[in-house]
Amino acid sequence: MENFIAYNPTKLVFGKGSIAQLGKELQPYGKKALVVIGKGSVKQNGILEAVYQQLTAAGVSYTLYEGIKSNPIYQDADAAVAQAKIFQADMLIAVGGGSVIDSAKAIAAGYYVEHSVWDFYLRKAPAPTKALPIFAVLTLAATGTEMNMFTVLQSDDEKAKHGYGSPLLYPKVSFLDPEYTYSVPQNYTAYGVADLIAHSLEQFFDTSHSPLSDAYAAEIIRLAMHYGLEVHQNPQSYEARANIMWLATSALNGSLAAGKLGGDFGVHGIEHCLSVLFDIAHGAGLSIVYPAWMRHFYSQIEGKLTFLAQRTLHEKATANDFIVALENFFTTINTPIRLAKAGIGKDKHALILENLKQNNPKGRFFKLTATDYSSILELMA
Ligand code: NZQ
Ligand code: ZN
Repeated sequence: MENFIAYNPTKLVFGKGSIAQLGKELQPYGKKALVVIGKGSVKQNGILEAVYQQLTAAGVSYTLYEGIKSNPIYQDADAAVAQAKIFQADMLIAVGGGSVIDSAKAIAAGYYVEHSVWDFYLRKAPAPTKALPIFAVLTLAATGTEMNMFTVLQSDDEKAKHGYGSPLLYPKVSFLDPEYTYSVPQNYTAYGVADLIAHSLEQFFDTSHSPLSDAYAAEIIRLAMHYGLEVHQNPQSYEARANIMWLATSALNGSLAAGKLGGDFGVHGIEHCLSVLFDIAHGAGLSIVYPAWMRHFYSQIEGKLTFLAQRTLHEKATANDFIVALENFFTTINTPIRLAKAGIGKDKHALILENLKQNNPKGRFFKLTATDYSSILELMA
């Protein structure tokens, strides 16, 4: 088991009606908030209105930054920083999925500096020493950003997507009401399930010996497959929505990292290249890359795959059974397992290879070279 530090200062308020706590929770942090949202779903489903009511009742004035896109770009975060500075915001309220919350994290750090937020992601700027407090109202179960210190942004000009992390960027409080995810369409619900499974796998394939972490990851995957199917059949099931929400948070809030070295994350690196090239949803990219990655590294991971198969399927299941079951599951819930299914033809392979070589995703345990990229690409076709 590796040495580790367990630290997670985010307070979660989970369950039906949790928004009622927002006003009280943010009161110690000031009187002016920048509210950050995506392309408008939270206006249609009433969530933004519920947030506004809390702010008004708490005597907090606010201004809205609207328009964060899925697979968020740093230019939006820079524009929101400018707006926050003019408004002299004391805090940020992110109302949305991972893209909105990740952008809020960038804005929080960007508020106290004069350079573009992108410089943090490029490691051109020193680490932030201050950040605005962030409150997250989560509307989509997937990334875990509501309870971690990471943020991922992309630059369309540079065709690059990078992550960044700082302990200053943990949300102060995150509000997780499973009913807020009833309106997430079937496709994004499925992509979220694929993402949370991928986070469990990335940490599971960190080969450091941490038996509790491995058993925990396998159980998250088993439950994600169970509730993923249930929510696919019955999108209004509170139990399914609630369990998926908590599974997604648990998969990337540090719980699975205990006794490990930070996970592999090679698959995430490859997916980020698909995201910048084709603007594919993150979870849809992952459900394509993971099965291919597993087949490519099969001889090295057969033992670990067998463990997963026996924990998630049945006691006689084999390594290959796990890959096939995962593919069948993804197909059933309608998240793609091949590039062609996502409308990305063979004519795009050269472009993908070029981007992989440019961004050079590595994988901490399963190192990726140009030869690996080509082979994994063939398996994704
Ligand atoms: O923009 P709006 O109109 O709000 O619509 C969004 C968007 O179109 C919609 N949506 C969200 N909540 C909804 C809803 N529609 C109806 N009802 C609701 N309640 O869903 C679409 C996708 O939203 P997005 O925030 O992009 O999805 P997700 O939460 O999957 O976030 C993806 C981003 O997170 C990054 C990904 O790379 C990607 O950029 N990740 C962040 C991580 C982290 N910070 O720890 C880790 C992950 O591995 C991931 O890389
Ligand atoms: Zn992810």
